[in-house]
Amino acid sequence: MPRNDQTHYSEITKEVVRGKEIWEANNCMGCHSIMGEGGYYAPELTKVLDRRGEGYVKAVLMSPVPWAPRGRKMVAYKMSEADANAMVAYFQWIGKLDLNGFEHVVSPLAKQE
Ligand code: HEC
Repeated sequence: MPRNDQTHYSEITKEVVRGKEIWEANNCMGCHSIMGEGGYYAPELTKVLDRRGEGYVKAVLMSPVPWAPRGRKMVAYKMSEADANAMVAYFQWIGKLDLNGFEHVVSPLAKQE
């Protein structure tokens, strides 16, 4: 175990890995950012579970129509419950990383909250 582990990698379960695979395969980063990395079209997602809660996040991912209450469209992925749960597991893990104080919201959309 690294001496300065800030990722609590021992909590990387199979579901977290699956969530990361879905994240990569669908180019979520083309529109969203995590820890400031990625696109700035859509909300920053590092702390999305703190802001929105699991139910809201799953509804967005499983929606059969593009989720767009604020005008810009989220892709309608129509995710299965298992895939949506894997994404939530990934966001849970990401949300608990030690961010070294990088907590500010960088997405103009997320700023409206
Ligand atoms: C084409 C751009 C685009 C892609 C690609 C995309 N999204 Fe989104 N997503 C959006 C936009 C825009 C919103 C905000 C919609 C609104 O609230 O009006 C959003 C909203 C969300 C939200 C809710 C965030 C919040 O703060 O309300 C989550 C969670 C989310 N997306 C996850 C994902 C995941 C996971 C992927 C990949 C599987 C993904 N998105 C891919 C554009 C995108």
